[in-house]
Amino acid sequence: MSDDAGRLLDQARRIADHAYAPYSRFRVGAVAVAGNGDEYVGVNVENAAFGATICAEANAITTAAAAGIRRLHTVAVGCLDADECYPCGNCRQLMREFGVERVIVQGEGGRLRIHTLEELLPESFGPEDLP
Ligand code: THU
Repeated sequence: MSDDAGRLLDQARRIADHAYAPYSRFRVGAVAVAGNGDEYVGVNVENAAFGATICAEANAITTAAAAGIRRLHTVAVGCLDADECYPCGNCRQLMREFGVERVIVQGEGGRLRIHTLEELLPESFGPEDLP
């Protein structure tokens, strides 16, 4: 199932060009792939009140949720301004909520890496842990 990884990463990096990142100048794009194969994109959107910034992954995942999607299997994260762009802790937890299994990451000039979410968020807390 890694045959589509390069295409998804290319798409994530292409969309990263639309990032609104005037403060960090760190442009990130993400593609969230639903269980039914539909794809949702997002970019990071910064804010002068820094805490209001939205990560690319969160943007893609919440866009999928707004379309009614409740199960995602893959998130691809690409960035333009660094070799590496691993999802932050908050985004890993968001991925956990929607059942993401595979996370593909690659920065500009960096290697493409494929991880399970379990590798990135071991011993995690999720929906099935609530009574
Ligand atoms: N960023 C993301 O979009 N995704 C991540 O997982 C890490 C960080 C963004 C947020 C902010 O706009 C910029 O990168 C620098 O932190």
